[in-house]
Formats: sequence, structure tokens, C-alpha cells
Amino acid sequence: MTPDDLATLAKPANGNGTAGRTGSVAAGDRDDVIVFDNVHKGFGVGSKRTEPLRGVSLRVRRGERLVIIGPSGTGKSVTLRLMLGLLDPDSGTVTVEGRDLSGLDIDELGVLRKRMSMLFQSGALFDSMTVGENVAFPLRAAGERDEAKIAKTVAEKLRQVGLPDTEEKMTSELSGGMKKRAALARSIASRPDIILYDEPTTGLDPIMSDAIAELIIETHEKLRQECDDDPEGNRSITSIVVTHDMHVASKVADRIVMLYDGRVVGDAPPGEYRRLGSNVLPKDAGKHDQMIRQFVRGEAAGPIRTVT
Ligand SMILES: Nc1ncnc2c1ncn2[C@@H]1O[C@H](COP(=O)(O)OP(=O)(O)O)[C@@H](O)[C@H]1O
Ligand SMILES: [Mg+2]
Repeated sequence: MTPDDLATLAKPANGNGTAGRTGSVAAGDRDDVIVFDNVHKGFGVGSKRTEPLRGVSLRVRRGERLVIIGPSGTGKSVTLRLMLGLLDPDSGTVTVEGRDLSGLDIDELGVLRKRMSMLFQSGALFDSMTVGENVAFPLRAAGERDEAKIAKTVAEKLRQVGLPDTEEKMTSELSGGMKKRAALARSIASRPDIILYDEPTTGLDPIMSDAIAELIIETHEKLRQECDDDPEGNRSITSIVVTHDMHVASKVADRIVMLYDGRVVGDAPPGEYRRLGSNVLPKDAGKHDQMIRQFVRGEAAGPIRTVT
């Protein structure tokens, strides 16, 4: 990636100077790793029916750190599961690396999924294994049998996340923040092209949250450096972080997409969100800008309905 590419990434997706946007995206280009086009996804039938996504269109650019924000229950986790092909859209298309997921058979989906790594909300380390065995797990699952190579990768990944020499520890000996680090080491062990983080700081205090946000950035930059150093030169790293923590979003993101009421209501760099949160909005401000402002400021009053 060149500095020019970075400059392009930093530009708002729309040109009118506000973060709020609607509408669909055109078919993705080579620089899009993931494209959602008018995706609808609901669950249940009749009075039990919920439809969290009602026409979501978004692009994830190669090499960027994209953060998806939105109130609880807006379909952020559902969005990640659609990206992984763990859920199918009711209508619309999800394209990963130029391939419409609905057209893939289970083997093709498996190949694509190997390039992606998901860090779940809970972290979900295997309690019965040591830290080292946890990190080695995806390598073994991918068929690696060379124990010396596995040990080297495990040590390197643990060092990368700031947990050197913890291979022999049991996961129960780790603090909450250390568990997150170990889970991150496991999720990058298989050297993914796309890392998905679902609420990586939930349940952590603000200082630890900030440390994890730093770690996400560091991990992204280290993997990017590895890609740049790769002689084949055709790898990339893209990070997608789902969070409802504006501080984390603001820190980590090249670009923030906000979901609400089944749609994308914001798509802009963090500075644009901060601006909407701090300045007085003009009288004719659009609904989406009002929603973003309300969310950024964490206020109950506004167009976003709160369920108590
Ligand atoms: N597998 C499922 N079955 C039924 N409902 C689901 C399922 N997954 C998510 N939902 C519902 O979809 C909505 C969005 O969920 P989710 O994506 O988890 O929200 P969040 O933005 O908090 O991550 C919620 O109302 C949730 O109950
Ligand atoms: Mg969620």
C-alpha cells in the first residue's frame, strides 16, 4: 500500500462533508475486500420476527481498519457472521475477495474462511489447554505438523501481543486483559488477511480498553509490515472492529460505519464523527447526522430510540 492509498482511505466515502449517508454501493473493485450490497437479514416468523439488517450496503477497503458502531441489537454481530458466511442474507449480496458467498460450495467457503479470523466477544479460549496449545490450535487445524515450526510461530505471536514466554500457563491463570491478548495471538497465528473483532473491549475497564485498542492497531501495523516484507507481495491485512465504545472506535478506525435501524447511517473518518459530536448542529442537519451526534455523545434524547 502506498501513502496515496492511505490518503484515499482517509477520505470520507461521500463528498458532502457530513458523515450521514444512505444508498447502495456499486459493484466492488479490486481494492474492496468485502462488499455488502443491499443486504437484508432477519430471524423468526410472525410476531417473533426481527429484521436487524434492512438494506445494508457497505464496502471494506483493502488494508484499512474499519470500525462498525451502533447501539446494541442493531445487527453488528450479524454483519460479522454474514462476512464469514456463517449466516446467509435473505436478499442482497455479500462479496468477499470478489466472490459472491452465495455462489460458493462448502469447500470454496472453507478456503475463503481460512483467510479470515474472528475474535469473538467472549475471547473463548479453551480452558483445558495451555496458552501455547490455544495459540497452536489453528495451526494444527490447518494441518501443520512440524512441531518446531509451530513452537516458533506460537512464541512469535505471543511476543507480538505482549505475552512473551507464557506458553505453559493455563488460561485460568490469566487476567481478563491477558486472555484477550492470548485470544488475539491465537486469531493471528494462522496469518489471516482479514481480522474481525467482535466487541473486543467489552467487560474491560477504560484503561485496559485503551490498551486493547492500541494492541489492535499495533497488530494491524505489524501484520501490514509482514505483508510489505513478503517477497511474493500479494498479501494484505484488513481489520474490522465491531464496538459500541466510541473511544475505541475513534482511536482504532481509519473509517467508521454506523449502523442503526437496519441501515448504514454514517460512513466517515473518526474526525467527522468527533466534529458532529462536539459542534452545534445546524438547524437543517439531516436525521443521520443527528443520530451520529446522539450516539457519539451518548445521549438518551434524540432520534435513536432507547429500549429500557
Ligand atoms: N441466530 C439468531 N437467531 C435469532 N435472532 C438473532 C440471531 N442472531 C441475532 N439475532 C437478533 O438480531 C438482532 C441483532 O443482533 P446482533 O447482531 O447480535 O446485534 P449487535 O449489534 O448488538 O451485535 C437482535 O435482535 C438479535 O436478537
Ligand atoms: Mg454483538
